[in-house]
Amino acid sequence: MRDKVLKLAKEKNAIILAHYYQTPDIQEIADFKGDSLALAQHAAKADADIILFAGVHFMGETAKILNPTRKVLIPDLEAGCSLAESCPGDDFAKFKAKYPDHIVISYINCSAEIKTLSDVICTSGNAVQIVESFPKDQKIIFAPDKNLGRYINEVTGREMILWDGSCEVHDILSAEKIMQMKIENPDATLIAHPECPHPVLILADFVGSTTAMLNYTKNSDSKKFIVATETGILHQMQKDSPEKEFLIVPADESCSCNDCAYMKLNTMEKIYLALKNEKPEINLPDEIMDKAKAPLVRMLELSR
Ligand code: 13P
Ligand code: SF4
Repeated sequence: MRDKVLKLAKEKNAIILAHYYQTPDIQEIADFKGDSLALAQHAAKADADIILFAGVHFMGETAKILNPTRKVLIPDLEAGCSLAESCPGDDFAKFKAKYPDHIVISYINCSAEIKTLSDVICTSGNAVQIVESFPKDQKIIFAPDKNLGRYINEVTGREMILWDGSCEVHDILSAEKIMQMKIENPDATLIAHPECPHPVLILADFVGSTTAMLNYTKNSDSKKFIVATETGILHQMQKDSPEKEFLIVPADESCSCNDCAYMKLNTMEKIYLALKNEKPEINLPDEIMDKAKAPLVRMLELSR
């Protein structure tokens, strides 16, 4: 299947982009893998005829908005995102109307509709930089992730108003479980994604985006890490540092993993079928594309 995918991608002049939360087999066939920011940057400049996005729906939408003349395919239309779903457009429009003197900074993990209601987009990799690009007294609504928003408020000393959304993969990680892992592994360094809840973040030795965590583990002297994020990241971490040990904080007692069910809907076979049938394809109304593009382009300009 792997060889068939690679052959077909070449025949169709398709580029395969994969998030680090994809399974290792998918990460290994990707032309480019990255976190949300790197993937958006890469999608914006891709000149292949087809962009096959092995990630979730909002990532495919982002690629289409930033590079509308390419055909954007995703392996499974059901690959949504609990965080994006926690912020419906109608409800958010009403919320926004309550604060007419605020600008809106939205995390990229949201629907295209939310992007049309935003002034600028950010990812976990550039959120602090984007927020700090505005004057200290700028009033800001941050959506949809309350954990990331709270973390940025703490780091920047701002008081952004937060939408009450969260990622089901990170939000369930428990500080109690982490304390237990720390006691059992006193030599381990705890690293956490800022989508984790506050009690987890205050325990962490390092908080950062997917790429920031990868860089941290590569460069750190520590030999053992407790990792509070999605399981898929372990593949690249272990590849970068084969001599180090990585322990994922499990979602619950039933496993030693913490998988995003949406990301893991993608399979090699679905990638093959998507390339063969050239669907599911991401398409959006022109009006949404136009309005959602401005805050995304602003993010790319601010993150150069
Ligand atoms: P980053 O890729 O920005 O670290 O975001 C993690 C995530 O939850 C993607 O869905
Ligand atoms: Fe959405 Fe969380 Fe899955 Fe990322 S890990 S796609 S934020 S549900």
